[in-house]
Amino acid sequence: MHKRWACKPVAERLMAETAQRVEALKARGVAPHLAVALTGDNPASHVYVRNKVKACESLGIRSTLERLPAETLSETLLDLTRAWNRDDSIHGILVQLPLPGQIEERLVIEAIAPDKDVDGFNPVNVGRLWLGEDGLFPCTPMGVMALLRDSGVQLKGKHAVVVGRSNIVGKPMAQLLLREHCTVTLMHSRTREPETVCRQADIVIAAVGRPGLVSADWLKEGAYVVDVGINEITDPRLAAELIPADSKKMEGFRKKGRALYGDVNYYEAKQKAALVTPVPGGVGQLTIAQLMANCVTAAERSVS
Ligand code: GUN
Repeated sequence: MHKRWACKPVAERLMAETAQRVEALKARGVAPHLAVALTGDNPASHVYVRNKVKACESLGIRSTLERLPAETLSETLLDLTRAWNRDDSIHGILVQLPLPGQIEERLVIEAIAPDKDVDGFNPVNVGRLWLGEDGLFPCTPMGVMALLRDSGVQLKGKHAVVVGRSNIVGKPMAQLLLREHCTVTLMHSRTREPETVCRQADIVIAAVGRPGLVSADWLKEGAYVVDVGINEITDPRLAAELIPADSKKMEGFRKKGRALYGDVNYYEAKQKAALVTPVPGGVGQLTIAQLMANCVTAAERSVS
């Protein structure tokens, strides 16, 4: 049985659906527009933002990218955010995180108009999610929901275990699953007997940032496993533990001295799970596709 859970076709379907919504908006004279603030020199952030802007281009969504220097002060970013809030031609605002240390991240997130907050990080959208109201919700968990839905995974009454309690993934993920009538357990670093807890899961979502943490003995036979973690491993001993000696991935590790690895021990999990998403090449594509969908949702609501 093929256990690798392909995310690319799902991301492509979501992009195609969003492209149609963009066309429908344009036919009504509305051009969806995403504004992105990229502050400082974090190389990963530059790659992420480039991919977001490219995705906009591929769908005909207008994008504005504002690059700000690493020494930017909170007030500058707050002024920019407020100007974007007032600009009716802008439907989505994204402030790429992390921000340099002198900037008060919370203040900036709170300054984004909730109806333009395509990341769903503003407390108003967090509240709407927990209250079961409509809003804009975080892209990675929404992308995971799209994967589950598209793959026909039955959710009602199932036990879903979310490993990790971050504001960006774990907490909103738990709430989205709860909305679909899962019984949800939110696990974290202080959870006792994590293997025993996780082994009860029909659906496992791992988002902790610990390479290979979820091993075979954490999994029930036939579980659906979504790996949101993306960790760089450089320690050859850890690599030998997590990557089979004869695999392509190990070949790459030997050449480059590093490899990207998820929070799930992929090779073990494949023996036990019904399906498991790979890292890299897994849920990352869903996150970007969902960001595009959120931006279009914001644009649609602005004229409805
Ligand atoms: N940095 C890493 N992930 C994200 C994300 O989803 N949104 C923003 N704004 N910054 C990020």
